[in-house]
Amino acid sequence: MTNKLRYFIGNWKMFGDIGSFRIINKINQFSRKSRNKFNKKIILCVPNTLILFIRKKLKSKSISLGVQNCHHHKGYGPFTGSVSSSMLKKSGAEFIILGHSENRSEGETNHLIKKKIQAALSEELNIIFCIGETLKEKNSGKTSFILKKQIRSSIQKDFNINKIIFAYEPIWSIGTNQIPKVDELSKIIRSIKNEIKIIFKRVKSPRVLYGGSVNDKNIRSFSSISDIDGFLIGGASQSSKKFIDIVKNYYK
Ligand code: PGA
Repeated sequence: MTNKLRYFIGNWKMFGDIGSFRIINKINQFSRKSRNKFNKKIILCVPNTLILFIRKKLKSKSISLGVQNCHHHKGYGPFTGSVSSSMLKKSGAEFIILGHSENRSEGETNHLIKKKIQAALSEELNIIFCIGETLKEKNSGKTSFILKKQIRSSIQKDFNINKIIFAYEPIWSIGTNQIPKVDELSKIIRSIKNEIKIIFKRVKSPRVLYGGSVNDKNIRSFSSISDIDGFLIGGASQSSKKFIDIVKNYYK
């Protein structure tokens, strides 16, 4: 395994309250203690309700904080119940997950996701842009077509690629305990990187993560895929022990 930087990003989804601070605190301590041991970056994407609280409470921050979605409109506006990228940035978010399949399934289109990316980039937030195919699309051989379409429809060449991390999350693997085969995944990650290089001619090493049922047991199987730049971890990131074990086992 090469010693390149790997991302371990927790996606808390609709989870967590003030008491969950202890989970973050433990992960933060682990991150600090292991900083010379592993070349890693830990980012926790929490609900909007926690971002400011955690930012204030976390002393000597060794992790980064993020959120999981925003409205496409910048600044303030008549959008009941919504939160904009600038509000999230001011609350302490450094990263933001956009295009997650759980939001796509609620009606988010590629076009809307593009507007959200633009809004988030205008606030200099770092984007974790999720793409992925359904089981039906996979079984009918459409994976590559779908991924290309998702990328092409939401990403344009004047975006700041240094602010965008891609996360390949096959929908059939999210929360199902099913993960892609190593050779299949390896090919897909490479093809996503090629697609990004077509749009951003000068980008040397686009960052592409894998997400979907990553846990402390199966993480080892991904170590052989050097092209993977890290992981987006859902359910298992809601436990400090499971999350820390994922990082430790990855480097074992
Ligand atoms: P999971 O979720 O790890 O629980 O499968 C991943 C995600 O939705 O980002």
